Amino acid sequence: MTNNVPDSDFSSRLIAWQKIHGRHDLPWQNTQDPYAIWISEIMLQQTQVTAVIAYYARFMARFPNIATLANASQEEVLQHWSGLGYYSRARNLHNAAQVIMDEHKGEFPQDFEQIQALSGIGRSTAAAIASFAFQQNQTILDGNVKRVLARHFLIEGWTGSPTIEKALWTLAETLVPSQDMVAYTQGLMDLGATICSRSNPKCEICPLQSSCKAFAENKTKTLPTPKPRKAIPQKQTTMLLLLNGNEVMLEKRPQSGIWAGLWSLPEISMQDIPTEMALNKFGLEVEAEEPLATIQHVFTHFKLEIVPQPLQVMLKPHKNKSANTIWLPIEDAIGAALPTPVRNILLNLNR
Ligand code: ADE
Ligand code: SF4
Repeated sequence: MTNNVPDSDFSSRLIAWQKIHGRHDLPWQNTQDPYAIWISEIMLQQTQVTAVIAYYARFMARFPNIATLANASQEEVLQHWSGLGYYSRARNLHNAAQVIMDEHKGEFPQDFEQIQALSGIGRSTAAAIASFAFQQNQTILDGNVKRVLARHFLIEGWTGSPTIEKALWTLAETLVPSQDMVAYTQGLMDLGATICSRSNPKCEICPLQSSCKAFAENKTKTLPTPKPRKAIPQKQTTMLLLLNGNEVMLEKRPQSGIWAGLWSLPEISMQDIPTEMALNKFGLEVEAEEPLATIQHVFTHFKLEIVPQPLQVMLKPHKNKSANTIWLPIEDAIGAALPTPVRNILLNLNR
């Protein structure tokens, strides 16, 4: 393969395979609506197809176009994202919808640079939208594609390192076909998800087998080279379950950091005394009960051990002391924009 000459063999076999064996009926396929494609690509960035499907349907039913999303409250957008994780995706979507209203007359931009300038849209996501919605010859490079390329072209080294990543982008560009961009882009995703999977790739039925170097050299098990491992830190927190009758108190998280903008439970460190904390911070007289079972929640960069501490509130103040707190019946709280472990704590409580 010479530089800048497309490897038509690679792409033409992938396209032919996708048309017959690829996925054709996912809810965000068979449309050219850039909005519908954009929402799906953002949901699919860090979440599996099977988990996305129900969220996608609910989100599109409530926010069918850019204007409805832009005009909604952040609260409601986050509520429709609640449980999907990586909530900056929802805040970025909301923000980008407003930018499209203000700066692009409500029309999703077609210019590749302008697509990438929207918050939450990196180079690969911009390329997926541009090729699916506008048939542009842009290349994607997500985790699945990196794995296919690292194996097929035998590229060693962690695919997240800047050097390897740069080499993969350059290579991926040479593979982009001059037509059939939708089938090609979907084919890369489909092959990575269904054939060239992380463990036990199905090389025996792979359309790229005859040219695949990892297959020829029996290196499919060691490629792509895994990321050098660092131990991820373990953190601890105590969450206060302030209870009064069937109501629980939620506290809104700050606009930055973990779970930004979501409703959560007030937190204290292991050293604090829960009853004193409740009195000092919220002016509530409480009685502590036995802590509930500890929950482990795993984030990308750390693990969080959560101890839920129930506190029975003797007398609930008539007015909330702070605008960041709200009292809700537990059933209603479960439907609010909550992080997953907080929802699980409330679901357990309600049993
Ligand atoms: N992952 C990212 N984008 C996708 C798509 N359009 N279809 C299936 N999986 C995907
Ligand atoms: Fe992946 Fe195997 Fe196909 Fe190579 S032959 S691209 S390793 S599935």
